[in-house]
Amino acid sequence: MDQLRDLGPDFVWGVATSAYQIEGAVAEDGRAPSIWDTFCRVPGAVDNGDTGDVACDHYHRWPEDVALMRTLGVPAYRFSIAWPRVLPDGAGRVNAAGLDFYDRLVDGLLAAGIRPFATLYHWDLPQVLQDRGGWPARATAEALGELGGVVAGRLGDRVADWFTVNEPLCCAWIGHLEGRMAPGERDLARAVSASHHLLLGHGLAAHALRAAASAPVRVGAVLNLSPCEPATADPRDLAAARRADGHTNRWWLDPLHGRGYPEDMVEVYRVQPPVRDGDLELIATPTDHLGVNYYFREVLADDPDGPVPHARAVPVSGATRTAMGWEVHPGGLEQLLRRVHREYGAVRVYVTENGSAWPDERGDDGRIEDTGRMSYLEDHLVAAARAAASGVPLAGYFVWSLLDNFEWAYGYDKRFGLVHVDYATQARTIKASGHRYAEIIRAHRAVAAVPDHAA
Ligand code: IFM
Repeated sequence: MDQLRDLGPDFVWGVATSAYQIEGAVAEDGRAPSIWDTFCRVPGAVDNGDTGDVACDHYHRWPEDVALMRTLGVPAYRFSIAWPRVLPDGAGRVNAAGLDFYDRLVDGLLAAGIRPFATLYHWDLPQVLQDRGGWPARATAEALGELGGVVAGRLGDRVADWFTVNEPLCCAWIGHLEGRMAPGERDLARAVSASHHLLLGHGLAAHALRAAASAPVRVGAVLNLSPCEPATADPRDLAAARRADGHTNRWWLDPLHGRGYPEDMVEVYRVQPPVRDGDLELIATPTDHLGVNYYFREVLADDPDGPVPHARAVPVSGATRTAMGWEVHPGGLEQLLRRVHREYGAVRVYVTENGSAWPDERGDDGRIEDTGRMSYLEDHLVAAARAAASGVPLAGYFVWSLLDNFEWAYGYDKRFGLVHVDYATQARTIKASGHRYAEIIRAHRAVAAVPDHAA
């Protein structure tokens, strides 16, 4: 892959996970229930009735997982903090045992030469906060700020790279409008309110992280973005694609970059976000980096009678699709990276998640030759490198995911890992894609003369 040359010597190679998807140990050491513990108990909410109760048992097996990253030669790890472990009451009382877990993990990572990137909120809201109104309530944003201060007070001497919220779109739109994720609501007004408080929580947490850390930290949000293209040149489809772009991309990017909420979308929703004086300034707090999660593009047709944003996804014929049914479209990653740089002036961008689920099969020799995942990885890296070559300040790339894990409403059937997890035994097996990623990192080190951090 000659294109690796376009990724500078400081390019950060990583893998990503999130707390609820891998940790398990949901009732240990003072962790309180989260909205996902509750949602998993709703009949029919999660495929096969799966739950995160055990997941990859990472809470106990983290030393093995750090060792796996070291074997792969991965120099960075993006993980998330389980809010209900650290602040079991949502705010106020700090559970020292919860913080201790992340303290050990961070020390273990650093000892292995792996740079930690911590995410504060990856969807596991303490249930107690949901009972008090959840994200539609302003107090939840304030509590996220409090979490930021508590966590950075403990880890901020060793963790320099932080993300505040992961994919607020999924929490607001899928969790509060479509009902397919926790907390499973279907209410546009509450969803819009949740979206505002997630962004406000980002701003409050960014300030709190900086104030509480005893060493300099870099902070930013993580958005899942998708190029939204019209299915035809019909003006109605063009308008539908524009609305979908507003719903998926601009609703988040605009306020984070000081432009406020897009007026056209307020008209589509017919709901005003509950903005108070000073909120938009907090949301637009200057950040050090932007995390972009990319999985697929959307191709859209007008759907006037459908739910907001009145745009229907049209399947692209002949497309390769992953086990999630998502179209494989590497060009979309380049497009998005160029856009956040060109239109929003992003100063440092990480691809904080990119990856794919496939029906992995173990061969007779025990190996998992996941060729679909390997091609996906290579093609998206080429697209990322093209964006970097065009001037995008791309600082790193994190594969989703290190391990097969709990894929939310899809349970354990959808496997995204570079490492296979046998959930019956918790045995980990590096897939061919994991070995390929290790080779790519080594090859980059050779062409870009990278200092050997992870060796
Ligand atoms: O597993 C999720 C992750 O939690 C957030 N981003 C998308 C991934 C794949 O669906």
